[in-house]
This record gives sequence, structure tokens and C-alpha cells, in this order.
Amino acid sequence: MKKEIAIGVDIGGTSIKGAAVTSEGEVLDVFAFDVDKEKNQEEIIYQLIDEIKKYTAIHGYNKENLLGIGVGIPGTIDTVNGEVIYSNNLRWNHLPIRKMMEEGTGFEVRIINDAKAATLAENKFGAGKKHKDFVLITLGTGVGSGIITNNKLLTGNKGYGAELGHIMLRLDGEPCTCGRSGCFEAYASATALNRDTKRMMNQHQDSLMWKKLEEYGCLSAKVAFDAAKEGDKYALEVVDNYCMYLAEGLLDICNAFRPEVIVLSGGIAKAGDFLLSKVVKHCEKYHYGYDGLPKVEIKISELGYDTGKIGAAALFF
Ligand code: BGC
Repeated sequence: MKKEIAIGVDIGGTSIKGAAVTSEGEVLDVFAFDVDKEKNQEEIIYQLIDEIKKYTAIHGYNKENLLGIGVGIPGTIDTVNGEVIYSNNLRWNHLPIRKMMEEGTGFEVRIINDAKAATLAENKFGAGKKHKDFVLITLGTGVGSGIITNNKLLTGNKGYGAELGHIMLRLDGEPCTCGRSGCFEAYASATALNRDTKRMMNQHQDSLMWKKLEEYGCLSAKVAFDAAKEGDKYALEVVDNYCMYLAEGLLDICNAFRPEVIVLSGGIAKAGDFLLSKVVKHCEKYHYGYDGLPKVEIKISELGYDTGKIGAAALFF
């Protein structure tokens, strides 16, 4: 059978990435650009349209050989009317992105929440392939989620639901960008980890995390995770605390959905086995709920960096 091709775009807070993806999940040539924080939401979309026009011209894509463009966006997405209703991390509001992009590129455009795109990708091509009930959690700037129950993506009314990043772990806890406080995201996102890393570093000038920061040039999850792997006790405290909150959120998800598998994706999932072993240990201590219930396997994403792009393109397959 002839492979079909669509472009998948993954919109993030700091950069926008895209690629042509085949109906077999292969990622072809990639494009990416940094988001200029000075630009407003419309200007960013016009820049994306220009990038796509350049990309399709260079690679010879046209209406005959490209099914369309799928776009994954963080936030509340009206998939029926093609609008970003509100994006708490991008600070976008009522943006008719589908209409803008269809007029600007001439291709059909479909949109979806970023984490739900990642979930479709892992479901079709990755760690969720063999499972009819699974949950994917993205650990990045925010905490996103996608829930597959009985092979169907749970979306809620107009696609606005299934936002597990905003279930509450702690009353009157850390502030969240959604306006509440104590959300799962306020403890399990990369933003939360960076906040706690900074706090710990400021209290302990002798922590190895300072050396890691100098080496990497910017604060990221790697600073705490790598220092913790080398035994720095302050970094270990940050990482253990992070893993405890993450595991507590996952235990709630086990109790609510009892999936066969929970897949962790996004930047922090790159910490791999080091992260996984701590999270699983905590979950096992509390037995994923009650004795006798089927155990939930926790896995790292198989598609890694490309998950969002593949899932957005998969809206056409
Ligand atoms: C947003 C979600 C998004 C997630 C990951 C959360 O803060 O509310 O819609 O999927 O971040 O980007």
C-alpha cells in the first residue's frame, strides 16, 4: 500500500517543531524554530505559516501528495470549531488557528491538544500499541494527559476534558498557571522541578547542582537528575520529592482509570530508568490502590522527541 503523508506540528512554549510523517509513523525532514516571546499569538501563527510554506516548497509537498497539517497545542482546544480557547502556558486566548492556517497554507488543518496528540502517537505506533486502556502523561513545561479507555480517546465535551495535570494534589499548595493552586502540574512539571531545584541550590552553595548548571549553561531537569545520579544529597532530595509527588498523582490516576499501562513522555521522561525506578517503588509501596487489583505498568514513551509531531500528523491517518 502506498504510504500517505501528513505534516505534524508540535507547538511548545519555547519552540515549535514540525515534520512530514508517514502513515507508518516514520518522521521525515524536520523543521523547528524558537518562539519569540515578544510576538503575539497571531504573529506566531503567521511565522508558522511562513515556515510551513518554505518547508513544503523545499520538499515538494502539494495537495496531491500531502493529506494535510495536524497541529498539537497545549491548552483547551475546541477541536470542533478549530480554535484555541485558552492556553494557560502559552497565554493564548480565543485563537481561530485552523481558519488562519488553512487560509495561509492552502492545506486542510486539524488541531488537537498536545498531550492528546502524543497519546494518539503512542497508541498507534509506540508504548501504548498493545493496550486498549492506557494513560499518557507528558512531563514538560506543563503536565498534559491523554486517556484511552477501551481503545477510545476520552475527550469530554468538545475535547476540553481529560486534563489530569490540573487534578489537585495539595490544597493551598504551589500556584498553578491555571489559576488554582496545588495541581499535579504544580509539582510534577519541569517548571515545578526547576523551581524546587533553584530553591535548593540557593540554600546550598556547595551542591553539585551548581557545577551541573555551569556545565549545561541553563537550568533544566538534567541539573537535579544528573547531580542526584552522582550522589549529591541536595539533588537527591529534590529528585526524591519530585518523584514522590509524581507517583502520588499516578496513584490517583490508577484509582480513577485502572489503565493497563501509564506512559510517561516529555522532557523529564528522558531521565529514564532512574526516574522510573523511584516512581515505581513509591507506587508499589501503596500497591497501586488495593490488594488484588490488576497492577498498572509504568513505562517511558517509545517515540521520545517525535511523539507530538507523529500524533498531530496521525489525525489524518
Ligand atoms: C495544559 C494542557 C497541556 C499540558 C502540556 C497544561 O498546563 O493545561 O492543556 O496539555 O499543559 O502542555
